[in-house]
Amino acid sequence: MTQQPSIQAPAKLIHGNHYLLHGQLETWQGPSSEVRSPLLDAEGQRTLLGTVPDLDSEVGMAALDSAKNAYDHGRGAWPTAPAGERIEAMEKFIELILPRRQEVVDLLMWEIGKKRSDSEKEFDRTVDYLRDTIAEYKNLQREGSHINVVDGTLAQIRRGPLGVVLCLGPFNYPLNETFCVLLPAILMGNTCVFKPAKYGVLLMVPLLEAFAKSFPPGVINVVFGRGRTLASPIMASGDVDVLALIGNSKSSNALISQHPKPNRVRQVLGLEAKNPAIVFPDADLDTAVRECVKGAWSFNGQRCTALKVIYVHKDIRVKFLEAFAQATDQLVWGSPLDNADITPLPEVGKVEAMQAYIQEAQQQGAAMVNERGGRVERNMVFPSILFPVSRDTALFKEEQFGPVCPVLEFEDFQEVLDDIAKSDYGQQVSVFTQSPETAGHCIDNLVNQVCRVNLNASCQRGPDTLPFTGRKDSAVSTLSVKAALRSFSIRTLVACSEGQKGLVEDVIGGGHSSFSNMNYLL
Ligand code: G3H
Repeated sequence: MTQQPSIQAPAKLIHGNHYLLHGQLETWQGPSSEVRSPLLDAEGQRTLLGTVPDLDSEVGMAALDSAKNAYDHGRGAWPTAPAGERIEAMEKFIELILPRRQEVVDLLMWEIGKKRSDSEKEFDRTVDYLRDTIAEYKNLQREGSHINVVDGTLAQIRRGPLGVVLCLGPFNYPLNETFCVLLPAILMGNTCVFKPAKYGVLLMVPLLEAFAKSFPPGVINVVFGRGRTLASPIMASGDVDVLALIGNSKSSNALISQHPKPNRVRQVLGLEAKNPAIVFPDADLDTAVRECVKGAWSFNGQRCTALKVIYVHKDIRVKFLEAFAQATDQLVWGSPLDNADITPLPEVGKVEAMQAYIQEAQQQGAAMVNERGGRVERNMVFPSILFPVSRDTALFKEEQFGPVCPVLEFEDFQEVLDDIAKSDYGQQVSVFTQSPETAGHCIDNLVNQVCRVNLNASCQRGPDTLPFTGRKDSAVSTLSVKAALRSFSIRTLVACSEGQKGLVEDVIGGGHSSFSNMNYLL
């Protein structure tokens, strides 16, 4: 079959030669990097989409200075701004990005190969998240707009910003996961330097103006280029108070270790995972298969929440594998523009990496379970189910982040529990059973190993109001509409004895403080 029958190259190249520094869209005259699509042109080359600036460390440090000056040790106009002012800026930002929806959706498809419906969902879900974040921020402000009296002490407690945030986003959800940390951080009064991921970078170009027009100078600075050139010196300066990174622990550890005082850095990290599915003999087969197909293969398995290993009880193994293989083989591969299920992989070298996992697993005794497994069409890999996969293989040990899934058989649930206990990851798990006893036993044995036990459903982040986090190497801090605002802030308070009541009344009544006020935001 042909890979992308209906694909035309995008109408025009996007030459992003701007970056956002101190509220200004600065023009970069230096070298730039090509952005190429995983969708191949007629010659089989990655289609050229445009360019982004390849900024040097001087610009990176200027962006840091800009964020530092805007924060000004917590005394800047933004960290001390009244809540209403910050909300207004956020609302303006949302209003300005809405008309860019189609451009962003198109770029999601072209840059990272995300299918049309998922690209649209990513944009819409992000806008919903930002709106919900504003509502939650109002709640926080309301909670902070009163005085507690404790043992003769008056105290007004609010959540305050932490300082300068370095924000680094991932390629698989370049809009959603980035904005779901960046915007809550800004709303809480922090200032930021943001560097988009290597893939999914061009889609920030149409949004730069919205940042520039919505937030005061220095609050958000957007830089493009290599992590080593930009992020490393920024961390080494010691001036970063929060590292917000969605990626892997190797990158976050390397960056944290460059900070002269790592203890000062608040880490908000969404990292690697290896979420298991556990299929018990009494599982509803249709449900288990449907959820495993969705969990393992959505966006070619390139989700941190993807099911990345499947344990199936020996009594249902044959039936399950047969049905799982059959359902998997029905997936359609092709263009994201045609909303195909399986699409080209954006990372250079990814096809070879997937093949290496398959080859090693096969050398160690695994067989390819599904007929279409392992097929490669240019830079697409058809989902591959391997069984039985040895615990000594990279496919078992590592986060494969792609369309290859190892399956292991178990007889005693304890074997699965031992693997999970030994694993470096601890995000979520999916359990498939109809028995309340088994479900209850699994919950109690798993809930302290991971941070979400899904019953008869694949692993996932949503709904976004639920806490999203992980243990071990899978995350630091919690994200959700509510939790992100907390992750990017710290409680700070004003306290005095009851004898100071008059002074407090005069501060508040006279409108002398932005922190000490009783304004009740509607
Ligand atoms: O890559 C990790 C994403 O946060 C997963 O989100 O479960 O909604 O796909 P999702």
